[in-house]
Amino acid sequence: MNILEVKDLKKYYGQGENQVKALDGISLSVKQGEFLAVVGTSGSGKSTLLHMMGGLDTPTSGQVIVAGKDISTLSRDELTIFRRRKIGFVFQSYNLLPLMNVYDNIVLPIKLDGIRPDETYVEQILVSLGLEEKRCAMPNQLSGGQQQRVALARALAAKPAIILADEPTGNLDSRTSMDVLGLMKTSGERFGQTIVMITHNDEIAQMAGRIIRLEDGRICGHCGQPGRRQEVSHESRRAGAFYA
Ligand SMILES: Nc1ncnc2c1ncn2[C@@H]1O[C@H](COP(=O)(O)OP(=O)(O)O)[C@@H](O)[C@H]1O
Ligand SMILES: [Mg+2]
Repeated sequence: MNILEVKDLKKYYGQGENQVKALDGISLSVKQGEFLAVVGTSGSGKSTLLHMMGGLDTPTSGQVIVAGKDISTLSRDELTIFRRRKIGFVFQSYNLLPLMNVYDNIVLPIKLDGIRPDETYVEQILVSLGLEEKRCAMPNQLSGGQQQRVALARALAAKPAIILADEPTGNLDSRTSMDVLGLMKTSGERFGQTIVMITHNDEIAQMAGRIIRLEDGRICGHCGQPGRRQEVSHESRRAGAFYA
C-alpha cells in the first residue's frame, strides 16, 4: 500500500524573471514501512518537498495524497489533527518549548491529542536515545545534539504513520548520528512507520531502503549511488585533462 503519493507537485515562488521553481513536477510513491532518503544539493527543493508532504505549506499545483486522502481537501482544523496524529516531524532546528522539561516536551503532542502516553514506549525511547538522565532537564541545559534527540523522541513517541525528517543528524557527531538513525529505523520497522529523511550525508543515506536525488526541483533519474556518479562526472569533466 502506498501511504504517501505525490503527483506532479509544483511549488513556484515569485513572478517573472525572479520566479524560483522550488519544485517543478515531482511524482513519487512511498510504501508503508518504507525508509526513503532524499538527497540533493542546497536549494534543490528538499525542504520544500518535505513541507508539502506534511501539509505545512500548500503547493502551486499537484497533489499530496496520504493514506488515500488528498490533503488539500482537509480543513485547517482537520489538517492540524492529521499532522499531530499521522506525522512526526524532525527539523534541523529543534523547536522545543523552552519552559517545559524534556519529558513534557516529548509527550506534548500526545497530550494535546487527549491520549495517555505509552509510558513503557516513552521510557524505551529515552533510554535508546541516551536521555534517561535528562528527563527533567530544561532544553537550555542540553547540548544541541541532546536537544535534537529530544526532538526525535517527541516525533517517535506518538508512533506516527510517517516520520518526516529534515537533516535530523545535521548537528550530531557521527556516532550519535548512527545511534539516532538506528533507533529511527528500528522504530520504523517495529511500527510499520514510513520514514522520509533529507540528508546530505551519503553514509547516512545508505541506511535508507531507497534514495532519491533532487536537482532544481525535479527528481534526478540516473543516480543509483548518492553523490558518487554526479561527483565523479562533474569532477572528471572539470579535470578532464588529468583523466584523459
Ligand atoms: N519562502 C520562500 N520564498 C522564496 N523562495 C524560496 C522559499 N523557500 C524556498 N525558496 C527557494 O526554493 C528553492 C528550494 O529551497 P529548499 O526547498 O529550501 O531547498 P533545500 O532544502 O534542498 O536546500 C531555493 O532556491 C530556495 O531559495
Ligand atoms: Mg533544506
